[in-house]
Amino acid sequence: MKKALICGVALAFFCSTGLVTMAMADNGPAEITLQSTIDGAKKAKPATFPHAKHQEKLKCADCHHSKGADGKMVAFVEGQKIEKCESCHNKAAGMPKGLDTFKNAAHKKCKGCHKTSGNKALTKCGTCHPKK
Ligand code: HEC
Ligand code: HEC
Ligand code: HEC
Ligand code: HEC
Repeated sequence: MKKALICGVALAFFCSTGLVTMAMADNGPAEITLQSTIDGAKKAKPATFPHAKHQEKLKCADCHHSKGADGKMVAFVEGQKIEKCESCHNKAAGMPKGLDTFKNAAHKKCKGCHKTSGNKALTKCGTCHPKK
């Protein structure tokens, strides 16, 4: 009886703190289909991105950042407004070569990390661009 009561209290505690964190943090969608809309290729090549799966192992700051008034990168801090990559990484935004399109920035970030993972399958085109 006493044990059941303690369990009940513990459960209520975890449930309520769980709800509070869910209400505070916006983790974005669990699964995202990434598709360039500004500098898109002639033949669209969407990329699948399991966002939640990456969040389990990585920090938000490993991928997200912002831009200061001087045009330089601003590191991620909690609560930072998260914008689409392509809103900064596009041809009209004056980004350095290699970061001037969604494709280039994404390949640098996504493939860059996948290359260092030691798992060769992760660098194959089809991992991110599945054949329909
Ligand atoms: C680790 C994930 C990943 C891998 C591996 C990868 N890409 Fe991508 N690629 C992306 C992402 C993300 C984008 C940007 C979103 C989009 O438009 O598809 C992109 C964009 C592109 C685009 C522009 C598509 C468009 O619609 O504008 C092309 C073309 C492309 N990739 C070709 C390739 C080829 C060829 C390979 C293999 C040599 C490859 N990618 C491997 C993630 C990947
Ligand atoms: C492995 C890279 C990666 C990690 C780690 C990551 N994200 Fe993301 N996140 C992305 C990408 C890519 C997008 C899609 C951006 C786009 O559409 O241009 C995105 C989209 C989002 C969005 C939706 C933005 C919008 O307006 O569409 C939110 C919110 C978000 N992420 C929050 C987070 C938080 C909070 C964390 C840490 C708990 C996190 N992300 C970790 C890569 C990542
Ligand atoms: C608010 C604007 C902004 C957004 C949104 C943004 N970036 Fe960036 N990003 C920058 C700036 C500025 C730099 C620094 C460019 C330079 O070196 O001059 C940068 C640098 C980078 C770099 C090179 C440095 C590094 O960390 O490896 C990569 C790769 C990159 N961004 C990928 C992404 C991806 C992927 C997303 C979406 C998840 C994203 N960026 C969203 C502005 C932005
Ligand atoms: C800092 C490292 C890192 C970054 C950045 C990163 N990934 Fe990954 N990604 C991984 C690792 C590690 C795995 C293998 C995870 C596993 O199997 O548990 C993975 C797995 C994947 C998978 C396969 C998932 C599955 O279910 O097999 C896809 C697709 C993928 N990533 C797409 C992307 C895209 C698109 C981006 C850029 C928007 C990206 N990743 C950025 C480390 C990264």
